[in-house]
Amino acid sequence: MALSWSAKEHKNTNQPAAATGLKRPRNDVGNKVAVVLGAQWGDEGKGKVVDLLATQADFVCRCQGGNNAGHTVVVDGKEYDFHLLPSGIINPKSISLIGNGVVIHLPGLFEEGDKNEKKGLKGWEKRLIVSDRAHLVFDFHQVIDGLQETERQAQEGKNIGTTKKGIGPAYSSKASRTGLRVCDLLGDIKDFSSKFKNLVRQYQSMYPSLTVDVEDQLKKLKEYGERLRPMVRDGVYYMYEALHGSPKKILVEGANAALLDIDFGTYPFVTSSNCTVGGACTGLGIPPLNIGDVFGVAKAYTTRVGIGAFPTEQLNAVGELLQTRGHEVGVTTGRKRRCGWLDLVIVRYAHMINGFTAIALTKLDILDVLEEIKVGIAYKLHGKRIPHFPANMDVLQKVEVEYETFPGWKTDTSAARKWGDLPVKAQNYIRFIENHIGVPIKWVGVGKSRECMIQMF
Ligand code: GDP
Ligand code: IMO
Ligand code: MG
Repeated sequence: MALSWSAKEHKNTNQPAAATGLKRPRNDVGNKVAVVLGAQWGDEGKGKVVDLLATQADFVCRCQGGNNAGHTVVVDGKEYDFHLLPSGIINPKSISLIGNGVVIHLPGLFEEGDKNEKKGLKGWEKRLIVSDRAHLVFDFHQVIDGLQETERQAQEGKNIGTTKKGIGPAYSSKASRTGLRVCDLLGDIKDFSSKFKNLVRQYQSMYPSLTVDVEDQLKKLKEYGERLRPMVRDGVYYMYEALHGSPKKILVEGANAALLDIDFGTYPFVTSSNCTVGGACTGLGIPPLNIGDVFGVAKAYTTRVGIGAFPTEQLNAVGELLQTRGHEVGVTTGRKRRCGWLDLVIVRYAHMINGFTAIALTKLDILDVLEEIKVGIAYKLHGKRIPHFPANMDVLQKVEVEYETFPGWKTDTSAARKWGDLPVKAQNYIRFIENHIGVPIKWVGVGKSRECMIQMF
């Protein structure tokens, strides 16, 4: 399969970056990076798209989020789920990088690696590079996540429905400048221990019920730190070398999704990082000029895990059918995903922010049995179309969705491998989506495994 991004505009002298240092001609942009991002509320099939591209990538990088993400990859009948590890870790020829923007729960990282090793994943520790600037998620951050959810439920009558992986509290520590990073853990352990104790005390003053066995935690962290040490690099310089060395194919695997973005998502029912394209720059130290293709991943319908407005949600037989046929159960928490019709208002909104160069439309096969299929094309407030996506959740709860209705194709598409194999009605559905978003659809997913992807161009 032809690669869809290239190390274009590489005007280098072929000397490795280390040899040429930081002095480069002004026009030497370096290698371009392709970014894969969720265009809805997560679980669009990013893992599968990344896996497809990763077969030819030199680097696959995570730039934000933590083990709140759950990315499924199915290869040769074996199903892997990745949370902190980039999905490219499956490819023995590519390097996986966890960037500074990611928050890392070390027990979770090693548990994930060991679990996948039992499934046959070999040598992952040798192929993984971790930025020394990445922040750490501690066990107590996860406990606090749970306590905050209980508090929200008691005070406001509703929580966020977080994954309880400690993501919000860890990014809060980072923003309040009391967080601890990989470089701290691998530096002076006395200094680390004292900062760790201060952080625990800070949280205990806010949450008196929090108990932490500090010495036990420090002992374990030290052990994890030693296991991690061989993988740790200065992430910025590592990336710089990757961008400016010989031509390389670099892929960024977004976690979570546009509508869960801390700035652009359905706040406060969002995660705590930037899951849109800017997160690739800040989470890896990549200059904007090095961003090449930006691939948006969208399901042929919509799902959401957790609480928050969902205008096209179907709390009826259609929603149940999508949930059961689509096996819509969270990879990280095992929660049932809420389901509804494809909402093109949110995908267009995601495109406004990310500037997608192409779209991967996944799970078309799930719609195969439907008599008719609806697509949300606009929101109305007080009977009038609104051109923007509302910031205020009370407003979003009140919008009326305008739908376009399509006849179902009622044909099994799971064996389709090229455009011509799809029924005309499915082709019409896809073309409508493409025209409405204004972005070419490059891939259409018709099944879980790597080969179940139709490449359009
Ligand atoms: P991610 O978080 O965006 O990587 O997505 P998840 O892995 O959480 O959820 C996507 C689910 O849909 C996984 O179980 C995938 O194996 C599955 N999947 C991905 N693409 C397709 C597709 O085209 N058809 C079907 N039937 N399943 C798919
Ligand atoms: P992937 O990468 C779906 C949701 C949670 C919750 C909210 C905040 O697999 O697409 P958090 O634990 O991040 O503080 O939870 O965000 N959420 C996701 N939903 N897929 C994800 O990741 C998600 N990551 C976070 O369900 O509503
Ligand atoms: Mg997922």
